[in-house]
Formats: sequence, C-alpha cells, structure tokens
Amino acid sequence: MKKLIKNGMIVTASDSYKADILVENGKIALIGNQLSEAGAEVVDAEGKYVFPGGIDPHTHLEMPFGGTVSKDDFETGTIAAAHGGTTTVIDFCLTNKGKPLQDSIDEWHAKSKDKAVIDYSFHLMISEMNESVLEQLPSVIDEEGITSFKVFMAYKNVFQADDGTLFRTLEEAKRLGGLVMVHAENGDVIEHLVNKALAAGQTEPIYHALTRPPEVEGEATGRAAQLTGLADSQLYVVHVSCGQAVKEIAEARKKGYHIIGETCPQYLVLDQSYLEKPDFEGAKYVWSPPLREKEHQDVLWNALKTGVLQTLGSDQCSFDFKGQKDMGKDDFTKIPNGGPIIEDRMTILFSEGVKKGRISLNQFVDITSTRIAKTFGLFPQKGTISIGADADLVIFDPDIERKISVDTSHMAADYNPFEGMEVTGQPVSVLSRGSYVIKDKEFVGEIGSGSYLKRARFGERKENQQELYQN
Ligand code: URP
Ligand code: ZN
Ligand code: ZN
Repeated sequence: MKKLIKNGMIVTASDSYKADILVENGKIALIGNQLSEAGAEVVDAEGKYVFPGGIDPHTHLEMPFGGTVSKDDFETGTIAAAHGGTTTVIDFCLTNKGKPLQDSIDEWHAKSKDKAVIDYSFHLMISEMNESVLEQLPSVIDEEGITSFKVFMAYKNVFQADDGTLFRTLEEAKRLGGLVMVHAENGDVIEHLVNKALAAGQTEPIYHALTRPPEVEGEATGRAAQLTGLADSQLYVVHVSCGQAVKEIAEARKKGYHIIGETCPQYLVLDQSYLEKPDFEGAKYVWSPPLREKEHQDVLWNALKTGVLQTLGSDQCSFDFKGQKDMGKDDFTKIPNGGPIIEDRMTILFSEGVKKGRISLNQFVDITSTRIAKTFGLFPQKGTISIGADADLVIFDPDIERKISVDTSHMAADYNPFEGMEVTGQPVSVLSRGSYVIKDKEFVGEIGSGSYLKRARFGERKENQQELYQN
C-alpha cells in the first residue's frame, strides 16, 4: 500500500520545507510537490511538522537491576516510545563475566523479538577484557551488527569495570571500528561516600545525590576522555548531567579527541530538590548520575545548542514506586536507579527547547534522530527524510497543549516523573517503515512487528564521518 503524506512541513536536521512524501514498500519513494495520489492512501499533514522518526540511543527495557527488573519491557516500552515519536530504540544488552557474549545477546533477542513494535538494536556491555572476549568481538560486530560497547565506570561490585578494561576496550574499538560508551562516574569514590553516609545514619533518597556529587562525574568523564585520546579511539559519554562533565568533553574535543556526549530530558528540566520530596517520593527521582542543582540545566541546554552535547537519550529504566522503588525505604542504596522517560523524551525537548527558543527546530531533529543515526551506524536508512530511507515518520502537531500525567502515559510504571508539567506539541501519527504504529494518537501497530537492526561500524560511512565530530 502506498501512502501520500500531503501538505506537511518536512523538517530534517538541515532543512524545513513544505512538500509531499510518497511512501512505497516501507521506504520514502518520492519527495515533491503535486505528487500523484493514484493508488495511495492520502494522509493530510496540514499544519503539522513531519519529522524523521526519533531514535532513542539509550534504553534499559526489562533489565535486571538491584534485585528487580525494570518494569517496561520491549512491548510496553516500544509502544510508549512510538506514542512519543520514537521509531527506533537501542537497548543495552548486559553481559556476565566469564560467560559467552552470545548467550547475553541471545537473551536480549528472546526478550525483544516478539514484542517490539518499532525497530531496535543493541549495545553490548563489556565488563572484562581478556583473550576470550577479544576472540568473540569480531563476530559480535560481523554477525550481530553490534558496533557499540558500553563500559560502566560506576556501580562497584555490580557492573563496574576497571580502567584497564576501559582502555583495552577503547583500543579494540579503534581496531575493529566500534564506539565505546561510558557511564562516567567514579564508582570507587562513590562507594566510599556511600559507606560514610550509611554509617552516619543518612538513609533518605537525597543522600543518593549527595554521595555522587558532580565532581565524581567530571573526574570519570575526564579520565575516559584522556584514555580515549591516548588510544586514539572514539567515545560516547551517556547521560551527561552536570557542568563538570560538559567541561571535560569540551576540552577533550578541543584537543581533537573523538568524543560525543548525550544528555537526558530529566537533567534538563528536573533538579536535585526533587529527591527531597516528602513521604519517600524522592525515590521516584533517583537516577545515576543524580539530578543536579538547577544551575547545571543552563549549562546542559547551552551544550546542546553549541554541539558540545549532541544527542538526547531517555535512559528509560522504569520501576514502580510501590513494590520496586520502595525496596529502598530504609536505605537509599536499595532504591533501583532509573525512571520512565521513553515516551516524553521528544516532547520535552520540543516544548522546552524549540518552543522556548533554546534550540532550533532543525537542531531538535538532529539531537533526537539524525545525529544518533550517524553516530550508531544507522544513517541514512534511519534518521532522515530522504529518498530511499525507511519511512519512519512522525506527524507532529506543534500546537497541542497538554499536561504530562501518568494517567495518560503509556509506560508501565505507576508514576511519571514529569507529572503535571505543561508541554506544547505531540506526535499525532507515527509510521514505522511505512505502516502506522500510532494513528490519531492511538496505538494501531502490531506486537512483534519491530525488526532487529544490524548497524554499520563507527565511521564506516565516511561521507558522514566528519559531521559526527562537528561542534
Ligand atoms: O539511573 C540510571 N541511569 N539507571 C539506568 C542504568 C544506568 O546507569 O544507565
Ligand atoms: Zn548509566
Ligand atoms: Zn542507562
């Protein structure tokens, strides 16, 4: 079935113009004016923007964490993502030391295959680097198309890897064409600060933030950046939350190091005071890195505007307040870290960013889609509106005004951290490879219709490489 999307304002990372889009066999077949309607279902996008589908580079769906499992799985999580205008997610596949990497990848395929309603891919966690892992990596890249590797510098005794592992991963990534991703916080220092806080009887949620100050994020970001420079490799810093980390990224980039930075909606609009909410409600706002003092928000917005930070991930990792977050009622270290964000990622950036004049409309598309596709080896199949690209399209009404609420949200968790926030703009219809997933704000997709995406090596598509690093 052909679809003709008429009268909309097409917005890409570089241009905004009024034109029609012909979709055929799941791809964008033509872009132009007065295209023939013959044999096509006509979709009227008058007064709407047409964006390339959003790409969320940072999700944890059905992920074990702290003795529980994140609430949204590949079904609820991708349905919610689609409602929010996201048509591709890249989820983190956790691995176990001493176990074959393929076992973990198979586990992640099993979780996602019959559930995802939009396309998806995986990053792979690296927790150790030895001869066995070295032997396995080429097939991870060649057979699975997994070209990004995540190293945790925090979560001591759980996920944390040592600096030797990080450095060797950077070296291998350079050799094989991979991109190393880091959760940059100094886990050793955090462990010490946490032990001191607990010994002093400081158990409330706010101590989660106070025991992970911005300095431990800045230090780890700087360390990862230096090691990247030494290995002449490439680095993607996930969930940047503070000025100290932004400064390290900017300085490393000035030296010519290949460093890409991501932030998340929660750090742009929420702050540390939320962790002090009464009746243990602060637990709803426990992330690592934690929410920061308000002044960091301006630094993050400015970093997005100037390209020091280039992408927005949701870090979707949702837990119910009742039954999951409250595992930490008497000890903040037992509060599972993370929150439900996947659905509101794009609207928050549009409403707080574009509508408030902090970033341009084209930057919005770049930050939520195009740059992510280029960084993670999906461009130009994903991340833009061009002939031959997948018809992953968002028809977005820029004028709808609404309040975010758990009551209208499609995520599985029992609260929304942005509850009551007034936003402008909403996706009304969303297409994944030419088929409706969301039509007139209702889910009409098919469970399990999402495809697994094998991704290109980092920088493999040379024509796009230069842009990956530009400020
Ligand atoms: O608090 C967070 N960020 N939870 C998800 C796991 C991670 O560190 O990304
Ligand atoms: Zn993390
Ligand atoms: Zn994360």
